[in-house]
Amino acid sequence: MQILLDSDCLIQALENIDGSAILNLCRQEGCNGWVSSTSVPAILEGTKATRAEVQTLLQSLAVLTPTAHDVDLALEAQEPFSATLLAHLVKASGLDAVVTLKPENYSGLSVEALTPGQLQEKLDAPLPPVKEVRLLDITASYHQILNEVEKEMAETMRSGYFILGPKVAKMEERMASYCQAKYAVGVSSGTDALLIALMAAGVGPGDEVITTPYTFFATAGSIVRTGAKPVFVDINDITFNIKPEHIERCITPKTKAIIPVHLYGQCADMDPILQLAEKNGLRVIEDSAQSIGSEYKGKPSGSLGDMGCFSFFPAKNLGGFGDGGMVTTNSEELYNELKILRVHGSEPKYYHKVMGGNFRLDALQADVVSAKLNFLEEWTEKRRKNAQTYHKLLKDAAMTPFVQLPPEVFPRHVYNQYVLRAGKRRDELRAFLNKNGIGCEIYYPIPLHLQECFKSLGYKEGDFPESEKAARETLALPISHEVNRRQQEYVVEKIQEFFLGE
Ligand SMILES: Cc1ncc(COP(=O)(O)O)c(C=O)c1O
Repeated sequence: MQILLDSDCLIQALENIDGSAILNLCRQEGCNGWVSSTSVPAILEGTKATRAEVQTLLQSLAVLTPTAHDVDLALEAQEPFSATLLAHLVKASGLDAVVTLKPENYSGLSVEALTPGQLQEKLDAPLPPVKEVRLLDITASYHQILNEVEKEMAETMRSGYFILGPKVAKMEERMASYCQAKYAVGVSSGTDALLIALMAAGVGPGDEVITTPYTFFATAGSIVRTGAKPVFVDINDITFNIKPEHIERCITPKTKAIIPVHLYGQCADMDPILQLAEKNGLRVIEDSAQSIGSEYKGKPSGSLGDMGCFSFFPAKNLGGFGDGGMVTTNSEELYNELKILRVHGSEPKYYHKVMGGNFRLDALQADVVSAKLNFLEEWTEKRRKNAQTYHKLLKDAAMTPFVQLPPEVFPRHVYNQYVLRAGKRRDELRAFLNKNGIGCEIYYPIPLHLQECFKSLGYKEGDFPESEKAARETLALPISHEVNRRQQEYVVEKIQEFFLGE
């Protein structure tokens, strides 16, 4: 439950912070306590508590700050201001209830108002059965991150420095260190990260770039946008990543680069790819959009090739509140090139030696990424734990003859997606899970060589059988760190019901 604590409750809690019943409820799993910043003066005035004690009180809670518009709405209402504002905050922020010593203050405000005792009863009662599991529930993490995100964003708004600048530089430095790369360059999206990396690698018209057809469109779309031609190579049927054994025969004098994609959060088999690249003088650009924090033989994604391209799309393991991306590299030369290409190829300003583009990253997105980076390891470990839980539940439910589980061939897999192979009945299973309130998705239903816009490349059905089979059979289940065990049990129960009947 997400609850907003009224100041009377907080004043009572301050009498005994360690032993406070309401604070103990907020410390338990399944209950997040919020405080409106407007309650703080009332708390300070209503007790003899020191400011330090109020700070301690707020530590296990999160502070919600009403906007001027929220305040305006509460001022317009006829009911008492404080209760109206809190009731409005509960509704506007999607919280479940306000907790107060005087629920009668909230009568007529169409919000659930509970006493601490009533909250305890609710939390002690058996949980209602799970009926819905979203594929992604981004706002569920707000209790953990919102205050840090707001602090970073407020600094940026107050500074007026919105594009690139010190906040982007700070994020780049931290991200480079996280990825164990010398440099990181923040850019406008994961797609633009790929495009600018190809440009920095000197890829252009007449060149060929080898990649997988079983990936998100942007991987090959970026190659075409440079004027070069994507040359597809089929995937390994276990990891869904490019199969290095097939690459060599596709290398021609026109080949300039290889883009392995670390699909679903697991690295491609990089050693043979790097060896082939070295032998043939090719650049390796990792598509790391789905794999932040994953590793191959102890080295992080994005530090393995010449450049690593990341996406901060909100659904990624480290997502912003909008579009954003990043390129990592260990090469000073490429780093300098990337920085120039990011600002229309200009160096110094308004002197353009090369064609670049507007690939700049907004400081506000860098703020969100920086704030969330503090939690990335914890969240990644939670995803990995969720994957183990699915493995066990699906095995215990005797589902392995019906679905193939995703193996971790190259630890560390970070499970941006947990993808099953569900055979010929995949579409039926998806419809059944959706009907039962379970979000699941197909990544990706049509491999890139069969996409209409790539017709001119001359590929046909049957050219990449493993990619085509994967596109027919795969299904991603909800795996994010917000998903809990009861939800996973529900998902597996429904999969079992689908294959074996009730
Ligand atoms: C494998 C892959 N490459 C590239 C991208 C492009 O990233 P963005 O959506 O940030 O442009 C994505 C993201 O969806 C992706 O999954």
